[in-house]
Amino acid sequence: MRVLVVGSGGREHALVWKFAQECEVHVAPGNPGMLCECHPVQADDHAGVLWLCSQLLPDLVVIGPEGPLVAGLADLLRANNFPAFGPGAKGAKLEASKAFSKELMSAAGVPTAKSLTCTNPSFAIDEVRRMFAEGHQVVVKASGNALGKGVVVCETEDEALEAIQTMMVKRQFGEAGETVVIEERLIGREFSLLTLCNETGYHSLPVAQDYKRIFDGDQGPNTGGMGSYSPVSWVSEELIRETEELVVAPTLQFLRNQIIQFRGVLFSGLMLTSDGVKCLEYNVRFGDPETQSVVRRLGTGLADALLATATGEQIPPVPILDNHAVTVVLANAGYPGAITSNPEISIPTSLPEGVEVFQAGTKVVDGKLIATGGRVLNVSAAGATLEESKTLAYKTAELIRFEGVQFRNDIGR
Ligand code: AMP
Ligand code: GLY
Repeated sequence: MRVLVVGSGGREHALVWKFAQECEVHVAPGNPGMLCECHPVQADDHAGVLWLCSQLLPDLVVIGPEGPLVAGLADLLRANNFPAFGPGAKGAKLEASKAFSKELMSAAGVPTAKSLTCTNPSFAIDEVRRMFAEGHQVVVKASGNALGKGVVVCETEDEALEAIQTMMVKRQFGEAGETVVIEERLIGREFSLLTLCNETGYHSLPVAQDYKRIFDGDQGPNTGGMGSYSPVSWVSEELIRETEELVVAPTLQFLRNQIIQFRGVLFSGLMLTSDGVKCLEYNVRFGDPETQSVVRRLGTGLADALLATATGEQIPPVPILDNHAVTVVLANAGYPGAITSNPEISIPTSLPEGVEVFQAGTKVVDGKLIATGGRVLNVSAAGATLEESKTLAYKTAELIRFEGVQFRNDIGR
């Protein structure tokens, strides 16, 4: 089988690493860490990706990031008879619009936080005041895509009012913040469920937990994700089945009722509260950095499962290894704010057994590897126990150097 992966981040690097053990793999555009053929076509260059497909004739195209999915790349590829893994633009609205996803959750009876969608700042302000007066804290969410930074969990009314000001009036996230969702803050532990889905059914991959905040102990602003681990000891098989029944199945049924075909991965962002499991959000692509831990725990068969998903066939289960994986994100100075430097990176030439370093925001300039993005590298370790993989990941993280590097010290703790 020949697979083309579209994208260039840590998630795509992890997928490429996994596919390389199973089949022939190509990537567009890829990153300097990927050991496969990288083609200089950007993920948002749809005509370029289509042309590349006509040259490579891949059996499967796996679209990594949400941007091209939202913009209809999967529709374009399918219309040209290339099997694409990822929903079309209509299905990708689950991620592109939090207003739409909340509407769907409510119509499909998916358990979630109470919320109100507002397009008018004064209504949003009224709602925030009402919620705090009733003794609730709130979460203010830009409805559109803001790279994981458009969600503000507010402990005080002032914080919420400021978030509304930033999103709706100052338009920090542009159009993405024109509509906001004001949501009741829930308390509980979070986990991510990645479920392969098509019209024949669904199959969930191992559960992972992400760390959204920048600092240890879940302090500081939200990021795209600072680390992950899998399995998650407090998420039982029973909780996974319950989540599939309460969240995944009704969501897919709703899409089917709307004649929206979904062939890809449904990423449910979940919280286990004292009132049971609640869905916080959907994404329509593999989680980053969840995928970097999840792939470390899969036996052979991911490429076959994704091909079946993409072609509308029954999805074969992917074997799960009896191990533990921990991924630590090494971020650039300033992240999740603006990045102002591009330090040179030094990675040891030989890594301890069980460790992979997936690259995310890197580039080679004048023969040197430099950091170009916010999240730069992902140190992913797999071991027999959580303790072992955590120790391996952190030991390796300490050996990697670039100026201003920041990472959390409590991933998997
Ligand atoms: P989202 O993009 O909607 O998943 O939000 C990003 C992060 O914000 C989540 O992973 C949670 O940590 C937090 N969050 C979102 N919604 C809520 C909520 N209703 N209650 C508490 N935290 C939330
Ligand atoms: N780790 C969360 C995300 O991929 O959006």
